[in-house]
Amino acid sequence: MAIDAANPVPPNFTRCAGADQIPPHVPPELVRSVGLTTGAEFLAAPHAYKAGLHHTQPPIFYDVSPHGNAWQLLRHDDALFALRHPEIFTNEGATPFPRDPDDYFYFIPIEIDPPHHRKYRNIVDPLFSPHGVMKLEAQIRERAKGLLDDFAGDGACEFTTAYGRPLPVCVFLDIMGLPQDMRDTFVEWAVDLLHAPDRETMARAMASITAYLKSAIAEKTAHPDEGVVSRIAHAAPDGVPLSEKEIFGFVCFLFIAGLDTVFATMNNIWLWLAQNPARVEEIIARPGDINAIVEELLRAWSVTFSGRMLAQDYTMRGVEMKAGDRITCVLPACNFDPEAFPNPTAIDFDRPRKTILAFTVGAHSCMGAHLARLEIKVGLEEWLKRIPRFAVRPGAHIEYRPGGVVGPEFVPLMW
Ligand code: HEM
Repeated sequence: MAIDAANPVPPNFTRCAGADQIPPHVPPELVRSVGLTTGAEFLAAPHAYKAGLHHTQPPIFYDVSPHGNAWQLLRHDDALFALRHPEIFTNEGATPFPRDPDDYFYFIPIEIDPPHHRKYRNIVDPLFSPHGVMKLEAQIRERAKGLLDDFAGDGACEFTTAYGRPLPVCVFLDIMGLPQDMRDTFVEWAVDLLHAPDRETMARAMASITAYLKSAIAEKTAHPDEGVVSRIAHAAPDGVPLSEKEIFGFVCFLFIAGLDTVFATMNNIWLWLAQNPARVEEIIARPGDINAIVEELLRAWSVTFSGRMLAQDYTMRGVEMKAGDRITCVLPACNFDPEAFPNPTAIDFDRPRKTILAFTVGAHSCMGAHLARLEIKVGLEEWLKRIPRFAVRPGAHIEYRPGGVVGPEFVPLMW
């Protein structure tokens, strides 16, 4: 039965975790414990590791971890199928972020299956459509220039703190209709929520975010404006206003989905650019190809995953999965599938066009994908005008942390 987002209840699905909770239908020869987002090999070079999985693991295997056991789908066509069949691979209960069971809410729209999910997307999709985000281009450019003014003359910066984080946060605050003086606080909360090494810091960040977003929703309810928070607060699909929990779950999920993903993608891309000056020259020499260039960079440096749960038994490539099993579409690996993208680790701006999986596909394809593409494109164009030659600062140690969004923590640069 479909969940009722206006009256959320904590799910009571069982979640298998660890070697002693492997369901009996899982064949032992498909069981692995590879530390997909935590292991030493992953942390040493996450994208090379994901690309290598096609040579070291079967296309579908059952990964066992203290964080949760799940089938891992590595192949591009298997992921396309799973993501396009929500009646088999459901999103209900598939999102890992914990919540207070006594004040439960759903993350909207990610935890809602079609067809109900459409009513939420319809509220904000027009703002995030290619046409909708085009209107933001000049504003994003001004934000990028403003940030560059602060450090382009310095000859060095730590990319993440100077540009990679503040740019998407400024843009996010503009879109949401929230004040720019919250920029550094939002960065801090997002980093603590998604990267803190301990659960206390995460819980504190979540409490601060909750308190702030609830008061912002109350303020926009009383004083409507053009921003996304106001649009969600005043939405009444089919004439029925959204409940408080729906409004909060929607606004809160935008915060989780729209910040760290962009930081991480930009960090990955700028690190690669800093290590490949000849490719930077190529990008500068091909201004008319910037959209294809950004798309290829997004393929190679995709940062996150799609988790689903089996709503019914299903056999894929001869592997029998059962209702209640969890799966992960390992999107960064799917984007390196040699059958979909020949010579997958080569970054080739002239690749034939094909669906990349950085933003997933199907009903839950990323609502912010056009915005993210635009932020990266404009961020890159403005950066290269001011800083066309740059390198990683000698001696800098590039470190990755375990987690579901893959990117270097810091990228110290010089020029
Ligand atoms: C490079 C940056 C980004 C990447 C790589 C990314 C990636 C993704 C992926 C993979 C999903 C699907 C998750 C799943 O299948 O479980 C997703 C969903 C989503 N993303 Fe993004 N995202 C990015 C930026 C953004 C931004 C800027 C926003 C909004 C401001 C945003 C809002 C959303 C929303 C609302 C969903 C859920 C869509 C739905 O359930 O219908 N994302 N994103």
